[in-house]
Amino acid sequence: MRAFVTGVAGFVGSSLAERLLSDGHEVIGIDSFTDYYEIARKRSNVESLLANQRFTLVEEDVLDADLDAHLGGVSWVFHQAGQPGVRKSWGSEFAIYTRANVDATQQLLEAVRRNGHVTRVVYASSSSVYGDAERYPTLETDRPQPMSPYGVTKLAAEHLCSLYAANFGVPTVSLRYFTVYGPRQRSDMAFTRFTRAAALGDPITIYGTGEQIRDFTFVDDVVEANIRAAQSDVAPGSVYNVAGGSSISVNDVLSLLEGISGTQLNVNYIEKIAGDVFRTGGSTERISRELGWAAKVPLETGLTRHFEWAVRTFSHELVR
Ligand code: UGA
Repeated sequence: MRAFVTGVAGFVGSSLAERLLSDGHEVIGIDSFTDYYEIARKRSNVESLLANQRFTLVEEDVLDADLDAHLGGVSWVFHQAGQPGVRKSWGSEFAIYTRANVDATQQLLEAVRRNGHVTRVVYASSSSVYGDAERYPTLETDRPQPMSPYGVTKLAAEHLCSLYAANFGVPTVSLRYFTVYGPRQRSDMAFTRFTRAAALGDPITIYGTGEQIRDFTFVDDVVEANIRAAQSDVAPGSVYNVAGGSSISVNDVLSLLEGISGTQLNVNYIEKIAGDVFRTGGSTERISRELGWAAKVPLETGLTRHFEWAVRTFSHELVR
């Protein structure tokens, strides 16, 4: 198969592209290398991909790209590109979010609509569409009510996927990722900050009490959900939670990390940040029934792998 992966230099995009290549597929990856976090990290994410002859890198913004040309011969589209981050989507930054998350998705859907050979578009949606959810574990049918401007843009793009499916049969599947972690996780996210601090002996800042709960999901499990969504013939417009099954507070993650790293963490608590929900927790009944997917990596195993990656990635900073 030939796959088109947007956001290929990012955390999930690069991990997914590696898996597609190792499964024998051909990958055309697009990324505009924005400076939301260190561009050097993104360059290193694509290094091993570039060594593979079945990989092509397009350094462009989805909104500026000749998508019809890139979609030639493509069967699967994995739309991982976007402006991420719940806590930064306020104020004048919001325009970046609507452009990268809503406008770009609409352009891509139009292009897929024109290219009838595409058999699946998998859209990287987010647990942030739920906001403070009606109940836990949250079902896909529960009312989405985002708490952050970011969540609004992710939900709007998800609606675009469903309406292009309903109106034109565009074969979309939206996967609502629940706080993905693992090697290569973005630098603004909790686990990378915590494991880096544990590796370097730096202080950790917690937003709020640390009692907030997340359903953390290991990146390999998220990649597997993407592959299953691409291969299955579920109805266009389908939506699934991709949730790792851990229901753990940030404070309990810190205790776990103290055990894994064998260090005592230096933790400071500051005010909660607007847009941050108290709890996420997704039901995986639908994805397990329809795609046969279940999370395989338990939190302690995944956090250990994340810590080991942080030691490899950041320990050179100790010489300072
Ligand atoms: C994450 C991603 O950043 C979003 O892009 C994604 O859409 C979302 O998951 C999702 O599941 O939909 P978040 O849950 O905020 O959002 O992920 P983390 O950055 O891992 O934060 C987890 C918790 O730790 C949050 O309550 C956050 O406030 C807290 N945190 C994070 C800290 O206390 N200190 C930090 O330095 C970083």
